[in-house]
Amino acid sequence: MPIRSSARPGWRLRRQRRVLDALIPARRTVPLFQSQPPPVRLVREALALACWAPNHHLTEPWRFYLLGPAARERVIALNATLIEAAKGAGAAEKKRQRWRQMPGWLLVTSHRGRDAVTDEENFAACCCAMQNCALALWARGIGMKWTTGEVTRHPDFLPRLGVDPAAERLVGLFWYGYPATVPKAQPRRALDAVLTELP
Ligand SMILES: Cc1cc2nc3c(=O)[nH]c(=O)nc-3n(C[C@H](O)[C@H](O)[C@H](O)COP(=O)(O)O)c2cc1C
Repeated sequence: MPIRSSARPGWRLRRQRRVLDALIPARRTVPLFQSQPPPVRLVREALALACWAPNHHLTEPWRFYLLGPAARERVIALNATLIEAAKGAGAAEKKRQRWRQMPGWLLVTSHRGRDAVTDEENFAACCCAMQNCALALWARGIGMKWTTGEVTRHPDFLPRLGVDPAAERLVGLFWYGYPATVPKAQPRRALDAVLTELP
C-alpha cells in the first residue's frame, strides 16, 4: 500500500504512528531476565524484521548466531579467565553463575566490506538492524541487552565461536529474554541541546 502524499495521513498511517511513537521510547535495555527462554520462533521473527534495516548497496552485512549451551560456555569460560585475572576467583565464579542464567544469547557480526568505507557503512547498517530487532522483540514482550564488554573485544572471542575476525566484525553480544524487571528510562537530553537547524 503506497504512502499517501496528502497532508492528512490515512487511518493506517495514523495507527502505525501511534504504535511506533509509543514503542520506541518504551523499549529498555534489560539486565535481568526470567529463566524460561522465549520461543525461538519469536526471535526468528525479530531477526527477520531486523533485516529490513537500510543498508548501502544492499550488502545485507548482518550475520546472526544463536548460541547454544556449548557456545555459551566457551564465552563464559573466556570471560571468567579475564575476571579472575583482574578480580580473583570469587568474582569470576559469581560472573559465571550470573551469565549461566541468561536465557537467550545472540552474537551479531557485520560482514567486512572490501574497503574501510564499506566496512563502516556495513557496521552502521547492522546497528540499524539491531534497533529493529530490539523493537520487534519488545513488541513481543521480550527484552534485550546489548553488550560490547571486555570479553567481546578479546582476540579469542570471535574465533572461539567459529567466526573469522578477518571476515566479520563484532557488532555485539546480545542477551534476551522475558524481563524480570524493566529499568526506569534514563532521561535523554532535550532535542534542542543536540539539534542545530542550519539556514
Ligand atoms: C553499542 C552498544 C554497546 C553497549 N554495551 C553495553 C555494555 O557493554 N554493558 C551495558 O550494561 N550496556 C551496554 N549497552 C546498553 C546501554 O548501556 C543502554 O542502551 C543505555 O544505558 C540506555 O538504556 P536504554 O537502552 O534502556 O535506553 C550498549 C549499547 C550499545 C548501543
